[in-house]
Amino acid sequence: MKYGFSYRGSKSDIAEKIINILPKAKNLYDLFAGGCAITHCAMLSEKWDRVIANDLQGSVTLFLDAIKGKYKNESRWISREQFLAEKDKDNYIRWICSFGNNGQDYMFGKDIEQIKKEAHEYLFVNGYDGTQYSRIALVKRFKEDKDITGRFELQQLEKLERLQQLEKLERLQQLEQLTVYSEDYRDVKIEENSVVYCDIPYNQKTVKTEKYYGIEFDKKSFYEWAKNANFPVYFSSSFCDDSFFTEVFSVKKECRMNNKNSHGKKIITERLFYNRYTKEEGK
Ligand SMILES: C[S@@+](CC[C@H](N)C(=O)[O-])C[C@H]1O[C@@H](n2cnc3c(N)ncnc32)[C@H](O)[C@@H]1O
Repeated sequence: MKYGFSYRGSKSDIAEKIINILPKAKNLYDLFAGGCAITHCAMLSEKWDRVIANDLQGSVTLFLDAIKGKYKNESRWISREQFLAEKDKDNYIRWICSFGNNGQDYMFGKDIEQIKKEAHEYLFVNGYDGTQYSRIALVKRFKEDKDITGRFELQQLEKLERLQQLEKLERLQQLEQLTVYSEDYRDVKIEENSVVYCDIPYNQKTVKTEKYYGIEFDKKSFYEWAKNANFPVYFSSSFCDDSFFTEVFSVKKECRMNNKNSHGKKIITERLFYNRYTKEEGK
């Protein structure tokens, strides 16, 4: 099952494994929630009474809107101009219409934008019903009508796939279980009897601070925060260069490279670390 919406660095593939490992408590905080894969899986698991999703960049409101049904009849074509003008105030435009969901660049290159637009409009005029089956059939017809022979990879109308994913999120019923914030992780007040999960921005071994979606992340101050926390903190990272933390789980995962310089796949190791907090011992 796909959890959350398409998002760079999504934990959808291993969400169930992570959810199984995180201990039971009253509340679960997903402090770097991004596309909300962990939040979504946690809500379905019913392991916690409340799930609190936070992300500095506000992506969690897209998740909340989707499960409230806001995108049920969404069919807009978003042009490059509209994307650039509105991405900072419309989360749908920002996350669903950006290249590799990076929230910054328009999803289609200038050379294919027009044909993607035509295909998009053709689908909605000709009875696209939100299913993969109708999308593939209509794209085939469109290509025949336009006499296109494999010049454009239309089978992948990526935006519609992302939209389908948002539509599927509507099935969530337990809305009262969810609270969302768009704050720095240090500013979210953690209530008693909680478990905190942090999917920190992907990091390379060599740099102390780095940019991810345009945000600088200081891993060392995150480590300090997690060490001093008086609640259990679990965090995902491919490595951890501080021996204070215990590794509780690791799995190899195929990762899609989706940036402007590289396409393809590579194998990465996903690890889960723990700050060793126990209620009895405190800190
Ligand atoms: C690896 S992504 C999370 C992916 C998410 N687990 C999912 O499955 O879609 C890391 C997220 O951390 C967020 N972030 C970066 N710095 C932050 C901060 N200081 N406080 C809160 N969120 C932050 C980014 O906006 C990004 O969405």
